[in-house]
Amino acid sequence: MDHLYQNPKYYEIAFSFRDIQNEVDTFEESIKRFSKIPVTDVLEIGCGNSPHMRELVKRGYQYYGIDLSEAMLEYSEEKSKDISDKVHFACADMRDFTLNHQVDFVYIPLGSLYANTNEALNSHFDSIGKVLKKGGLYFLDWCINFEPLSETRDSWEMEEDGIIVRTEFSISKLNKVTQTYEEGITLDVDDHGKEMSFAQKDLRRAVYPQEFLILLQGRKDFEFIGWWNNWNLDRPLKGTEQISRPITIIRKK
Ligand SMILES: C[S@@+](CC[C@H](N)C(=O)[O-])C[C@H]1O[C@@H](n2cnc3c(N)ncnc32)[C@H](O)[C@@H]1O
Repeated sequence: MDHLYQNPKYYEIAFSFRDIQNEVDTFEESIKRFSKIPVTDVLEIGCGNSPHMRELVKRGYQYYGIDLSEAMLEYSEEKSKDISDKVHFACADMRDFTLNHQVDFVYIPLGSLYANTNEALNSHFDSIGKVLKKGGLYFLDWCINFEPLSETRDSWEMEEDGIIVRTEFSISKLNKVTQTYEEGITLDVDDHGKEMSFAQKDLRRAVYPQEFLILLQGRKDFEFIGWWNNWNLDRPLKGTEQISRPITIIRKK
């Protein structure tokens, strides 16, 4: 089986269930409500195939993306040839990175906070604190575990231009003390009759809501703004509802 992130085209189809325009609307609404600075430069952490890039550029932003996977970055570069003056990529590790200039808004989609220890988490927020301007927002999609970890299996199928991608997602608990688990993603692809499988297994760590607040309180560079259900800024989380795709916003002090 091949590695999933070496095959950006099929990854892109698998995760194309998102309403990108609506998500960019939510970025803009959160900026309107909570940012203390005007926003022109936007940075995506773990950008991969950069799903929001074109919509952001269309709306007048400069797009920055960092990722560890060269294959993903090359794919994003290829996709953005016609807007190359408005997009900027860097191969960098979100746990410890810097950019040569500061941005106004940072976001991290799909729970991609790959920092498995307290040290790595703090180092990640140190890096965000350096690249984000004072008053700017850090928007986290699905990075906080509002439900206790449980063994999970999920699957779905997407189709684009005759390519069918069936995705299986799994969570297997590893350690209750370190809050670590194995996240598995498998893609079974039928590309016009050519069948292939790609798999990815990652060591992940749960971040629970109250530990996230304590982590922020222990730092002096961010303030907590809020968390909401299902990308909807009119639905602040109460904790008693069914939670799906929660978003969390913090602001650089
Ligand atoms: C779930 S994908 C998200 C891709 C894209 N942002 C999206 O919304 O579909 C996670 C991405 O994070 C990248 N990644 C994993 N660990 C990383 C790290 N330590 N630093 C930077 N990127 C990392 C992977 O290469 C992959 O492209």
